[in-house]
Amino acid sequence: MALSGDSGGADTAMQTVLVIGGAGYVGSHCCKQFALAGWRVVTFDNLSTGWRDLVKWGDFIEGDILDLPTLKAAIRATTPDVVAHFVGLTDVAGSMADPASYYRTNVVGSMNVADAMRAGGRDKIVFSSTAATYGAPQVELLTEEHRQEPISPYGSTKLIAERMLLHYETAYGLRSVALRYFNAAGADRDGDTGERHHPETHLIPLAARGLLRDDYVFTIFGEDFDTRDGTAVRDYVHVSDLARAHVAAADYLVAGGISQAINLGSGTGSTVMEIANAIEAVAGRRLQRRIGPRRAGDPAVLVASNQKAKRLLGWSPRPLGLSEIIRTAWRWHSVTDHGWVGPKTPEILQPRLVT
Ligand code: UFG
Repeated sequence: MALSGDSGGADTAMQTVLVIGGAGYVGSHCCKQFALAGWRVVTFDNLSTGWRDLVKWGDFIEGDILDLPTLKAAIRATTPDVVAHFVGLTDVAGSMADPASYYRTNVVGSMNVADAMRAGGRDKIVFSSTAATYGAPQVELLTEEHRQEPISPYGSTKLIAERMLLHYETAYGLRSVALRYFNAAGADRDGDTGERHHPETHLIPLAARGLLRDDYVFTIFGEDFDTRDGTAVRDYVHVSDLARAHVAAADYLVAGGISQAINLGSGTGSTVMEIANAIEAVAGRRLQRRIGPRRAGDPAVLVASNQKAKRLLGWSPRPLGLSEIIRTAWRWHSVTDHGWVGPKTPEILQPRLVT
């Protein structure tokens, strides 16, 4: 199996993490945090939604999790101490329209990852799960014990994968940490990587788009929720903080920890309106906006209790919180234009100054 990259081969004293989906938004931030923590990093990605230019830390293997032989070969070639599995389709509304793709990638794909690990004698995995596994809860702060009743195929597929991993621990000794992300947001503090989805569906990049382009009007999806200003409440957590939690979860597994599901959130909620106002303030210009209907599958409020992450992983997000999320996201989208979304042509990788 050919590896491409700049690591110059493995240092036998280093631990290796195989980052499946390391060319994507959260995955690329994780590669950086693992590299900073002294791990050898190898990214496995099919580049369908990931970006080759965001694979900056360690080696790269191009491959698809639905192609089991390639996946097994990658695991044999890299013998990872820990696998970090980020691959997944993640758009709630998209999953309502096309559940088959979500079951294929998120369920079958995750099973392939676990089976390839078994075949290669690997037994530790950090898995990207989601707050969407909880459904539409009515409590203020969600703990991991809250009933999981997903209301979208996306949430269901991630829950199935979580449960599959628990069964694989009982039967085969494969230990996992399922990290239930709330809203990953912001960009690397040094500007090395950031959010670039195509098509983009997320709040902050789309609000930034509304500020940067005359031809795009930002839409608030619903102002009739039972919340303080009528718009939906989410728990935004800086993506680099989220990434640090993966390193802590890997360390936890290496130290012998048993399988866990852990929320990753800040513990504080912001409304869509508050986010729109905050990015407007940082940009120093007016955001053209309109009110649209609610988006299918969107619950009113999702805010994490992060006590378990603190207790088990010693993790908490850095205190600057929302202001740093907005500042780093705005910088990524506006100053270098790296967050521009469109066809995968080389010219989009050229930095362009937006004044
Ligand atoms: N929103 C808008 N306008 C937009 C985009 C989003 O009003 O143009 C609203 C959404 O309706 C939602 C909030 O902004 O209320 C956040 O939306 P995002 O699309 O940024 O994020 P989601 O909360 O829908 O999704 C995130 C992750 C999913 C995960 C989900 C858990 O991206 O992977 O949290 O609910 F499943």
